[in-house]
Amino acid sequence: MDLFEYQARDLFEAHGVPVLRGIVARTAEEARAAAEELGGVVVVKAQVKVGGRGKAGGVKLAKSPDEAAQHARAILGMDIKGHLVEAVMVAEGADIAEEYYFSVLLDRANRNYLAMCSLEGGVEIEQLAEERPEALVKLSLDPRTGLDEAAASEIVEKVGFAEDIADQVTNVLVKLGDVYREADATLVEVNPLVKTGDGCIIALDGKVTLDDNADFRHPDRENLMDATAIDPLELRAREKDLNYVKLDGQVGVIGNGAGLVMSTLDVVAYAGEDLPGNPKPANFLDIGGGASAQVMADGLDIILSDPQVEVVFVNVFGGITACSEVAKGIREALKQLGNRASKPIVVRLDGNAVEVGRAMLEEYDHPLVKVVETMDEAARTAAELASAAMEGK
Ligand SMILES: Nc1ncnc2c1ncn2[C@@H]1O[C@H](COP(=O)(O)OP(=O)(O)OP(=O)(O)O)[C@@H](O)[C@H]1O
Ligand SMILES: [Mg+2]
Repeated sequence: MDLFEYQARDLFEAHGVPVLRGIVARTAEEARAAAEELGGVVVVKAQVKVGGRGKAGGVKLAKSPDEAAQHARAILGMDIKGHLVEAVMVAEGADIAEEYYFSVLLDRANRNYLAMCSLEGGVEIEQLAEERPEALVKLSLDPRTGLDEAAASEIVEKVGFAEDIADQVTNVLVKLGDVYREADATLVEVNPLVKTGDGCIIALDGKVTLDDNADFRHPDRENLMDATAIDPLELRAREKDLNYVKLDGQVGVIGNGAGLVMSTLDVVAYAGEDLPGNPKPANFLDIGGGASAQVMADGLDIILSDPQVEVVFVNVFGGITACSEVAKGIREALKQLGNRASKPIVVRLDGNAVEVGRAMLEEYDHPLVKVVETMDEAARTAAELASAAMEGK
């Protein structure tokens, strides 16, 4: 999960990283009040989870509360690279003497962490890395020690920070390392890290990505979730611990194993390509290996709550879970759902105990369930049913 800048700011503050005061505002009037509270020069900053806000006109200096309100009015509602600005942060204005760059991130390929730092921050770091890579110092960190004092000193020395601020920068980097470790982040980036006119080091911008796999260690994280950015069906699926991603087609998909589900999306998309209405997959849903009847029911329920869905394609390869169990699951799920199960369900079963599973579904003889033998054929059937339903509207 990516954090908004103001959330990163709060996280930094909680770990002792020096930041400036900032207040979130969702209307121009709130921005005016925030500027009044902070006093003096403030900066109005668009809160969107995308880079290049400054360049897009989403970061503006204001010398008075009136001006802050005016900037907020212009920035709120702005579209920055497809992200709607719904909030701004009104931050204290810094007297910037120098702008640096610092980040620490998970380096998957090398199975360690990577810290990057430069005396030339504020600018687009990708450009700097490409044009003058020597200006960007990179240091691999052993995950067992992370960004400790020794690593931070090494970075500061390699980058060549002036002596009068070296200790201060080292200290800030260690604290950013604390943020990275304690929050289970995969990215902590500060661009710019600044030196103020009176020689203080401050994190002026913050980009943080948290590792969702560590959510269970951070029960307080729920409030960081950006409910408005999450599809309501995805939210419901998450509550049921389902691996569901909403897409915008008409063929609901349930499968076991992420790989099988991904290829199911592909075959459905291919099958729908030449059909009237051009039906497409409506979602990704992996019900995992040992899928129970309850999981099948929850999955079907979520998919059938999507008003765009015209047909559901259940594509299961019986491995640890035998096809007979899956068939039982589908039967139980339909019983539980009752009238809520209202769309045709195309089922393709294969693998462990496939004959028994198919026979059970045949015997069950539910009017909505259609068993098809192969994956391609089932995808075609599902796409055709969706296409026909779309045409009928
Ligand atoms: N509180 C502040 N006081 C003074 N100047 C600021 C302040 N915040 C930002 N700035 C100036 O605005 C520039 C851009 O701000 P910031 O880094 O927050 O946004 P950005 O880099 O455009 O956005 P992103 O990091 O999302 O690409 C900074 O490099 C800095 O010069
Ligand atoms: Mg920035």
